[in-house]
Amino acid sequence: MRKPIIIGNWKMNLNLEDARRLIVELRQGFIDVDERKIDIVVCPAFVHLQGVNFQLPVNIKLGAQDVFWKERGAYTGEVSPLMLKDIGVRYVIVGHSERRKNVQETDEMINKKIEAALSQKLFPVLCVGETKEEREKNLTDSIITEQVTKDLEGIKASSLEKIIIAYEPVWAIGSGKTPRGEDANKVAKLIRKVIEERYSKDQADKVRILYGGSVDQRNIKEFIDQPQIDGALVGEASLSANKFIKIVEQVIK
Ligand code: PGA
Repeated sequence: MRKPIIIGNWKMNLNLEDARRLIVELRQGFIDVDERKIDIVVCPAFVHLQGVNFQLPVNIKLGAQDVFWKERGAYTGEVSPLMLKDIGVRYVIVGHSERRKNVQETDEMINKKIEAALSQKLFPVLCVGETKEEREKNLTDSIITEQVTKDLEGIKASSLEKIIIAYEPVWAIGSGKTPRGEDANKVAKLIRKVIEERYSKDQADKVRILYGGSVDQRNIKEFIDQPQIDGALVGEASLSANKFIKIVEQVIK
């Protein structure tokens, strides 16, 4: 059985005070949540990681939104997996489509980031997904296959169960539009097939696959009810304690 996981990606939002207030509300809302039953993760901006961390209860884990692929050195502006690990970060989002688009992050860079994160025993949350144009041209399957293959190139089979993959159709992010649950499930199944072909069925069955893109408290059920989907990567709705708590409640039900 794969353990469900809900990850809140706060993106470039909130000031420190609001971030702390949100954690106080989440703590309260998750007071009865058993961390053995579900992983709950929040990913604040780099500058707020520490300020948020010391307020987190045991059942909310800390994640970062990005990482660099070197441990240390002359890389102005970058943050290493070693630094993240050192301040208590456990998860790291890698290859989010906003980074692929805004700072031209490539699959090669993403692959190096995954390797680097794993070397510090962080859980990489790899994001893959097709754009609207790609979907219209029926390229979803080939785009997903290509991204998963390139991003996981050379990753050892023994590391695979630490990797979480989020299927996030680019057109669904922040748009209020979502695919149907069964369509997202088909893509999750494809991701598992790609992993199975390169590793084994056993390995593929262990990888947790999430859906992301306009997830909220009203539609979470549609995705979490799918057999291949183990949780969600939540953007906008994770900024509201009320919505995020309701999302988690429906996953553990
Ligand atoms: P959204 O973002 O929930 O605001 O669509 C999801 C994401 O980008 O991970």
